Amino acid sequence: MIQAPDKDALRVVMRGYRSNSETTAFVPTLGNLHEGHLSLVRKAKEVADRVVVSIFLNPTQFDKPEDLANYPKTLKNDLELLKKENVDSVFLPSADEMYPEGGTTRVEVDGISDILEGDSRPGHFSGVATIVAKLFNLVQPDISIFGEKDYQQLMLIRRMEADLDYGIEIISAPTAREKSGLAMSSRNNYLTEEQRGIIAPHLHQALQEIKRNIVEFKNSGYSELQESTAESLDKLGFRTDYIEIRNANDLSIATKCDKELVILASAWLGKARLIDNLRVSL
Ligand code: PAF
Repeated sequence: MIQAPDKDALRVVMRGYRSNSETTAFVPTLGNLHEGHLSLVRKAKEVADRVVVSIFLNPTQFDKPEDLANYPKTLKNDLELLKKENVDSVFLPSADEMYPEGGTTRVEVDGISDILEGDSRPGHFSGVATIVAKLFNLVQPDISIFGEKDYQQLMLIRRMEADLDYGIEIISAPTAREKSGLAMSSRNNYLTEEQRGIIAPHLHQALQEIKRNIVEFKNSGYSELQESTAESLDKLGFRTDYIEIRNANDLSIATKCDKELVILASAWLGKARLIDNLRVSL
């Protein structure tokens, strides 16, 4: 596995792949890799000749400095995991390399950036859009893979890719889950054993319960479903940020006429802010 520590080294690697007419699939990450990331890598391996992964703890997408400082740094283990998956190259830039002094350009994806996660985490999506745009420019992959767990991020990347004419195929991969149903996330590391094993899985169960209400019981009282679910989660020990039933295509507030829905949730449990979502097709 080739390790490219800076932009120049990455450009050499990518030129090599292109000159051999090899297609590339790119998986950007923040590091602290787990089975969820590896499922993206495996998807990438299925769809392209070469797989390139970036590990970059992007400071501009963290709205709280303490979240950035506390994010687990596990580079050695991350590299071992990627090697085992036969990843071809890994891009490991420093923060100075990605954000040299004096830089003032940001990428803003209007509308989608300000709701739900964007409302709770001001500036987060501008940070995500900016770093992904920069990484797309540097890697110039044919395909890039993103997890469905970050549903709003996936929509934002699709919008940005189309608006900026990258010509990169964005492929999504299903949320990897622990046996309990809990969505895999680096944030799960902040949970105690009891929170992780017993309480946290209720978040996914709550989404499934809403889905059952909508699909089986034809309940279209979405506001009440949202409110009652948030109350139940709070009683279990969560601090619910939002439970929202939205149109899956544009994230507008769902109406009875919408056939493609997504239920999105964010809730604090102890020190972890968990997110999850579930698609509903009517
Ligand atoms: O989803 C993530 O891990 C990050 O937001 C991403 C896409 C790697 C950008 O830093």
